[in-house]
Amino acid sequence: MNLFIRNISQLVTVAARGKRVKTGSDMRDLGIIADAGVLCREGRIAWVGTMGEWNQKLPHDFSELDAAGMVVLPGFVDSHTHAMFAGDRSGEFALRSQGATYQKIAQQGGGILGTIRHVRAAGKRELKRTTSHYIAEMMRLGTTTVEVKSGYGLDMASEVKMLEAINELEQEEMMTVVPTFLGAHAVPPEFKNDVSAYVALIVEKVLPYVGKKKLAKFCDVFCEKEYFEVAESERILNEGKRCGMLPKVHAEELSLSGGAELAARVGAISADHLERVGELGIAAMRKAGVVAALLPGVSFFLNHGYAPARTLIDSNVPVAIASDFNPGSCMSFSMPLMMTIACTQMNMTPEEAITAATLNGAAALNLSATVGSIEVGKDADLIAAEIPDYKFLAYYFGTNHVRKTIKHGTLLEY
Ligand code: NIG
Ligand code: FE
Repeated sequence: MNLFIRNISQLVTVAARGKRVKTGSDMRDLGIIADAGVLCREGRIAWVGTMGEWNQKLPHDFSELDAAGMVVLPGFVDSHTHAMFAGDRSGEFALRSQGATYQKIAQQGGGILGTIRHVRAAGKRELKRTTSHYIAEMMRLGTTTVEVKSGYGLDMASEVKMLEAINELEQEEMMTVVPTFLGAHAVPPEFKNDVSAYVALIVEKVLPYVGKKKLAKFCDVFCEKEYFEVAESERILNEGKRCGMLPKVHAEELSLSGGAELAARVGAISADHLERVGELGIAAMRKAGVVAALLPGVSFFLNHGYAPARTLIDSNVPVAIASDFNPGSCMSFSMPLMMTIACTQMNMTPEEAITAATLNGAAALNLSATVGSIEVGKDADLIAAEIPDYKFLAYYFGTNHVRKTIKHGTLLEY
């Protein structure tokens, strides 16, 4: 289907102009066009310009959408989620409201291990059904590309079950769903006293299988005290690379553990979280071009401090923001909410927050050549929001301003 979006009051292109990712002051350049039009042809963006420039003589083989009074932006790219899980952790949420910490709950056998018990018991169909509901709601909130991690199975069969389910959703859903293998999310109970045996299982059995079956694009690890040490994480990420998966790291979330330097050393596409990152980590990431994928919702939900977004941006590290949607540390996938938190708690500007949620999120998934900005030749993934100015996305929070989601040039019905 071909679609012409006309009379767009404010078109936020986030134009990358050939760049893979935006850094520094470039993150504040949104490439705005007033009174604009966008032509989507065969799933791609075929034309972008002002209504004054629009050549009416083109063959009229498209339907039209009048976007008067609307702001049109690239669909959000949520580059970090754990959107496949079973059960819930509302009990832990209540305990935290009474002062219990995420770490304490995990030490007592709750946390990630609690979710694992539910995921191991769930069938693939059930996992898919739940995630499919989340995906539908994400699209209503403007997300058009989402990364989903395994990591709640932690044995060969359950990790493969999760990855197969994620890959099937990529085939069946309108959403672009990017699978990441996170076998090193926690040490499963059966390996409680033998982390190295679990690492060996991942390296020798699980990764080669996941690689052979092409079940994941990325390999991620939770590099953290009481989870996986730097050396263990490095071994897993290097084996992941050998099996065809680009590295990602859950780095410096709960403590300064060297995860950012590790990400730079192994050539990771992104280092995520970074609440506790230090100067050395920042310098290493800048040098290696690692995207800092910040997760404002986690700091908000766990109340454990924010990543130094301002320092990262001012140091020319490319910054993305993502939701980290999961039942423990952030039970929300609202990218506009993440943008609000980024602006109010992390001193990011509304412009930086938009770039971080679109183009730079795409870069964190190695997808910025095809998504993340509104430019000719890119995928026609766009959203139309009923607001007078793009700043309202983050400013007027707690309600959904997205009225239309267009995925691969198709206007979604909802
Ligand atoms: O990114 N930090 C590790 N993993 C998740 C939390 C997962 C969970 O608590 O279930 C995170 O915050
Ligand atoms: Fe995470």
